Amino acid sequence: MSNTTSRAVIDPDDAPEALQPGTRAISAATVRKLWPTEAELFRNHLLRLDKDSRRLRFAHGVSDSFIEDYAARMNDMGSIVFGYFVDGEIRAAAELRKLADDWGVEAEAAFSVERTYQDQGIGSALMGRVIRSARNRGIRLLFMSCLAENAKMQAIARKHEADLRFEYGEVIGEIIPDGPDYFSLLAEAADDRVGYMMAVLDLSSRLVKAA
Ligand SMILES: CC(C)(COP(=O)(O)OP(=O)(O)OC[C@H]1O[C@@H](n2cnc3c(N)ncnc32)[C@H](O)[C@@H]1OP(=O)(O)O)[C@@H](O)C(=O)NCCC(=O)NCCS
Repeated sequence: MSNTTSRAVIDPDDAPEALQPGTRAISAATVRKLWPTEAELFRNHLLRLDKDSRRLRFAHGVSDSFIEDYAARMNDMGSIVFGYFVDGEIRAAAELRKLADDWGVEAEAAFSVERTYQDQGIGSALMGRVIRSARNRGIRLLFMSCLAENAKMQAIARKHEADLRFEYGEVIGEIIPDGPDYFSLLAEAADDRVGYMMAVLDLSSRLVKAA
């Protein structure tokens, strides 16, 4: 097992292409931002990651209690978390995290897809959402780090025409957006409106199941 990592530089001009779902899996499910009340669903998703996916996600093996603590801090960190929902459960997630108290010029992205949902284009589609949200918040540098052995994550970065740079055992993606434009803002707002409706439906469905 290698501890070496690499660094990727992603061209922000590729973001619109990344927004195209174009896969069977993505069209059969919902991708939307999580509500602050949905940290538990996020936690359940992270707990379902198999041992190797957990290690690739967090760059080392992590315990259940680590994940519980991490998911509980989702709201405190002020992250934007996208969930890939299937039947009300999150099967994949992408996080856009602040590096300071407010959205500054730099942020970090991280991805997790449950084993049985991997290799269906979900991680790529989530990358598109994250890049767009970063652009719309005026982020000038978006980092994505992964282990050097993580060929899938690097393939996604390359698909977005990233320049991969290997540094100190990490692969870090750097996106340098031109800044938000009318279409990127409109697309995120439209997705948020649909996401709001889907979140209400998911909540209703959970309440019915619990009754
Ligand atoms: C890495 C991860 C997010 C990718 O998500 P995914 O939905 O499986 O990936 P996608 O299907 O969107 O794309 C995977 C790409 O890798 C390519 N790929 C798969 N195996 C590969 C390999 N061994 N070598 C090179 N490329 C490979 C696929 O061909 C695909 O590219 P394509 O769409 O151009 O064909 C997901 O596998 C995951 O959650 N892994 C565990 C956690 C993790 O590694 N997180 C990233 C660090 S934050």
